[in-house]
Amino acid sequence: MKLSISVALTSAVAVLAAPAPMPTPPGIPTASSARTQLAGLTVAVAGSGTGYSRDLFPTWDAISGNCNAREFVLKRDGQNVVVNNACESQSGTWISPYDNASFTTASSLDIDHMVPLKNAWISGASSWTTAQREALANDVSRPQLWAVSASANRSKGDRSPDQWKPPLTSFYCTYAKSWIDVKSFYQLTITSAEKTALSSMLDTC
Ligand SMILES: *[C@@H]1O[C@H](CO)[C@@H](O)[C@H](O)[C@H]1NC(C)=O
Ligand SMILES: *[C@@H]1O[C@H](CO)[C@@H](O)[C@H](O)[C@H]1NC(C)=O
Repeated sequence: MKLSISVALTSAVAVLAAPAPMPTPPGIPTASSARTQLAGLTVAVAGSGTGYSRDLFPTWDAISGNCNAREFVLKRDGQNVVVNNACESQSGTWISPYDNASFTTASSLDIDHMVPLKNAWISGASSWTTAQREALANDVSRPQLWAVSASANRSKGDRSPDQWKPPLTSFYCTYAKSWIDVKSFYQLTITSAEKTALSSMLDTC
């Protein structure tokens, strides 16, 4: 009896002491599902990028109430986020998952497209309708939109995982699973180098 009470107390304390996990976008697959998805992706040489313009991927769509996709993600993925009537974040804490940088002002964060819009363009989206491109650019149902430090977003640019990986190696697993899930859902192609990089990142899971 005494033992079970102390065990119960110990686990209650452990639950209270554990930091609240940072929220993440929905739909991140398991490593095993991601491996299956990766095997199903079409490997192809990337397109040239001719004709690409960010304007071909309209953002930011209205998502919920007064929140557009950008504001929605900031609210969803921060802690204790307080927004005004226009859904602009007034306060909160955000930890950029790519580099573990911590912020208390929303303007310090960029919303990164996990699969960059230009990478989508050269891997299949150049033949899509504008509505399909808009769906990818505003997708809050899959792990496509991430609130990250402006510096991480800008160093990533349009690059794929064979060319750029997040600074935090402990995030490689989640990064690869998310990238693969988005490419798989939208039936975008990957290059051979991209496949090799993703596979080795999944090995860290
Ligand atoms: C992130 O930063 C916090 C605070 O500086 C630190 O306690 C934590 O260990 C870091 N996490 C990783 C994965 O580096
Ligand atoms: C994030 O980086 C992409 C690619 O360089 C860029 O197009 C986008 O404008 C950046 N996001 C913000 C909010 O600046």
